[in-house]
Amino acid sequence: MKKLLIVYHTMTGGTRQMAVAAAEGARAGEDIEVCLRRAQDARPEDVLHADGYLFATPENLGAMSGMMKDFFDRSYYAALDRINGRPYASMICAGSDGQNALRQIDKIATGWRLNCVAPGLIVCTDAQTPERILAPKVLGEEDLRRCRDLGEALGAGLALGVF
Ligand SMILES: Cc1cc2nc3c(=O)[nH]c(=O)nc-3n(C[C@H](O)[C@H](O)[C@H](O)COP(=O)(O)O)c2cc1C
Repeated sequence: MKKLLIVYHTMTGGTRQMAVAAAEGARAGEDIEVCLRRAQDARPEDVLHADGYLFATPENLGAMSGMMKDFFDRSYYAALDRINGRPYASMICAGSDGQNALRQIDKIATGWRLNCVAPGLIVCTDAQTPERILAPKVLGEEDLRRCRDLGEALGAGLALGVF
């Protein structure tokens, strides 16, 4: 059975909802095992033992979150040249932008020689004041559906061996 690893970090809950929705979508398919890991818990072995990846992070200060970067820092050389060609996609939860966090993940994935199989998915929470940024996030159904669809497509593609 093929395994999809979803690694995410969240501060105010938005990215967690995205990751959980994507996991639900992937689990809706057959012949796919989904491993949902917080960035702080994810280990290089998780990366090595997966067949495909979904990376999900907030954009903080124009970058992926520090905890997500820590996951890549801890995993990068342990996995280098051992996961070439495997498929991946990314999801960003952003207050207004998200593009640079996406670029950063794509750059790391390029170093890993991963194969990007879906456009980066950015959910904008319109959090642009300190109050809104620090408030817990509740994502709308349409955004969650996009995440579920991405998870489902990744899971199905992996299970069918189309990537
Ligand atoms: C320290 C900090 C910096 C942030 N910087 C950005 C930013 O550069 N661009 C952006 O679009 N959103 C920025 N945000 C907003 C978050 O991306 C937004 O609140 C998002 O919903 C957080 O996701 P989470 O709920 O998974 O933590 C920032 C939030 C924090 C706490």
